[in-house]
Amino acid sequence: MSAVATELRINGDRLARRLADLAEIGPIEGGGSARLALTDADRDGRNLVVSWMEDLDLRVDVDGIGNVVGTWPADRFDPPVLTGSHIDTVATGGRFDGNLGVLAGLEVLETIIESGVQIEHPVAVGFFTNEEGSRFAPDMLGSLVFAGGLPLEEALDTVAIDGAILGDELAHIGYVGGMPCPARPPRAFVELHIEQGPVLESEGVTIGVVTGVQGISWQELTVTGQSNHAGTTPMGMRHDAGHVAAAIVVAVRRLTSEIPGLVGTVGRMDLHPDLVNVVAARARLTVDLRHPDDDTLATAEAQLANRVEELAHAEGVSVVRRVLARFEPVTFDPTVVDLVEDVAHRHGLAVRRMASGAGHDAQMLARVCPAGMIFVPSVGGISHNPAEYTAPADLTAGADVLLQILLHLANPTAAAADDAFLRKSRPASGPDLRRNGGAGSERDAGAPKESGS
Ligand code: GLV
Ligand code: MN
Ligand code: MN
Repeated sequence: MSAVATELRINGDRLARRLADLAEIGPIEGGGSARLALTDADRDGRNLVVSWMEDLDLRVDVDGIGNVVGTWPADRFDPPVLTGSHIDTVATGGRFDGNLGVLAGLEVLETIIESGVQIEHPVAVGFFTNEEGSRFAPDMLGSLVFAGGLPLEEALDTVAIDGAILGDELAHIGYVGGMPCPARPPRAFVELHIEQGPVLESEGVTIGVVTGVQGISWQELTVTGQSNHAGTTPMGMRHDAGHVAAAIVVAVRRLTSEIPGLVGTVGRMDLHPDLVNVVAARARLTVDLRHPDDDTLATAEAQLANRVEELAHAEGVSVVRRVLARFEPVTFDPTVVDLVEDVAHRHGLAVRRMASGAGHDAQMLARVCPAGMIFVPSVGGISHNPAEYTAPADLTAGADVLLQILLHLANPTAAAADDAFLRKSRPASGPDLRRNGGAGSERDAGAPKESGS
């Protein structure tokens, strides 16, 4: 066995079993799961994963926002090499979004532990509270607090779409812990995730080397008009909030055809009083805009705001805008990106560099430590849907890449000695993980670039 145990492989059956067992919590029609953040189903999912951490004798720490980290060896308190993701889901969740990153991380730790391989730095697997953002905005809230991007008290006051307060719900499910947050930065963070898009499958590529994450803008628009009789109110005398909401939906779609690379979604909309024969007095809708370039995203936001103002003026309604989330594009650490690519090549896998369209906990961890991600294919590019599927061989291939990356990062001295493992022409720039004690690193603040190979 080489210095960094390059022949070691995970147990794919064990990973598949755990994914299936977790999916049984909050089951929904079509084979997926609904575990909205901090619901009883989320608690039950957490309890199951924590029981697996305890079976492996990890030290399980919970912080004040309910993030959970399992560390091995349990008596090591220096910064670990951390992996993980989230186990909360959207209401129409599949089996793999987030869950793969957590359970593959657990599988990687179990493989390391049972192999007896020596590691210089501790390794840890975590799951972060409310990554999805479906119930509480913003998304990636737990990892944002973990990384010091949002004060804990502010996060605890967040109000859910069902009116619940985050801090109350966290206490209700029993996940208010004592580990400080913001947390001490880990040594590095690497997250395995399904792509949730069609690129890898359509190109026959197994491993996506994620270079960064596009910018995300979420807003809620509340349109206030006047309810009136549907039969008697002349069309020219209406102040129809429903009409303006529908026109905003169309404006968002039009914007995406005018600005290359922009994606836009109105995923939520409700009307009040929501009756067949009453002009809507109020409409509330959300707009999700994303783009890899922050200036372009800001331009899209401004153009939409102008269009909304015109529509409101024409109909005689008012519109109030509330920002739910605003995250700049993130570029992952070049050393971690290169490492993902090296390991995947070494495993003989087809590889492609790509930016992520979805938000991920790794983009928050990138604020405080070298971070990166591995993607595996999503069949049909389907996600946030119970039909989400990734072939077992791809799950295993991704987890094996994750294993080698964790071994490499946790064993920097051995890895440095293993010349065959290191890329021959590693650039001199970028953080040197062999010396990184977990402090933040200098990173290119530019937008992630999509560069196929
Ligand atoms: C998280 O799933 C997102 O909305 O990108
Ligand atoms: Mn996810
Ligand atoms: Mn998701």
